[in-house]
Amino acid sequence: MNELDSLIDEARARFGSAVNPVELENAKALYLGKAGRLTSLMKGLSALSVEEKKSQGAAINLAKQAVEAALQARRSELAEAELQRQLEAEALDVTLPGRSVGQGGLHPVSLTLERIERLFGSMGFDVAEGPEIETDWFNFTALNTPEDHPARSMHDTFYVEAGDDSAPHLLRTHTSPMQIRHAVQHVKRHRASLDAGQGMPEIRVIAPGRTYRVDSDATHSPMFHQCEGLWIGENVSFKDLKVIFTGFCRAFFESDDLALRFRPSFFPFTEPSAEIDIQFATGPLAGRWLEVAGSGQVHPNVVRNMGLDPERFIGFAFGMGPDRLTMLRYGVDDLRLFFDGDLRFLRQFH
Ligand code: PHE
Repeated sequence: MNELDSLIDEARARFGSAVNPVELENAKALYLGKAGRLTSLMKGLSALSVEEKKSQGAAINLAKQAVEAALQARRSELAEAELQRQLEAEALDVTLPGRSVGQGGLHPVSLTLERIERLFGSMGFDVAEGPEIETDWFNFTALNTPEDHPARSMHDTFYVEAGDDSAPHLLRTHTSPMQIRHAVQHVKRHRASLDAGQGMPEIRVIAPGRTYRVDSDATHSPMFHQCEGLWIGENVSFKDLKVIFTGFCRAFFESDDLALRFRPSFFPFTEPSAEIDIQFATGPLAGRWLEVAGSGQVHPNVVRNMGLDPERFIGFAFGMGPDRLTMLRYGVDDLRLFFDGDLRFLRQFH
């Protein structure tokens, strides 16, 4: 094999072992660069005779073409390999399971509130909402609970800076202020008719929402929910309260043999007053009386504060605890679980 053939073989081998474009270009310089072997051979021609120049020159040119072709071939190979590498790196596995957008759900207490609204809605009750920051008037005084009344101490709450208004504000301790707020609006709308000695449509409303007290253990949270109920008309009696509330509880717990007990009690804003207890016929709580609401016939002073004549208008109110109802419905024994925000707990209700 002559010198040029072995040079071509050597160049092919070097190009072949270059694993990236930089190595390949360095290898190229050995043969085709300014100080490369083929370049030096060309330069060496000048020392030869014309005849030798012709034959040697042609041979060197052929060798140069062969080296260039080998270089080009290796360049394509490396480019192709790089493309393959990229394609593999960026490959999509279309068989992988999709990334789903997490689906939210309602909080168990929200589910209960929806259920309460639906059931009372079906019995002709409106739904009203009111402020959680209340005035002393709506939370206590208008509800027949004057400043020195001992019932206030059971409703220890959080007081709020009143700003330029001198009347103290507080986080409402119950939803009962909504009795006054809603009734006053209702009476205002029907004032003309009332003044003309005609009647007004009955007030039939529930008012769910957040309430606050300084209280915290497994069954009390400083923030909790209540749902107020109010039914005022000219011919509404305690019997109606019993029918309505019994129907509600049996529908809520989907249990026709649920028993109810109206146990005499005291609230400043109702007279007479009763705590409402329920008793399941079956299940883990069967036989136990469980308190679910306070209730009573609306006190004449409260009817007066609604802007109505207590000689003519009468009715009842109740206040129940949706958190308690949720615990009973799902068998949860610690109220705090509802407000800790632990998704492992909350997801079980979706
Ligand atoms: N507001 C009372 C409480 O929080 C409950 C209640 C409401 C009682 C309406 C009677 C009538 O304890």
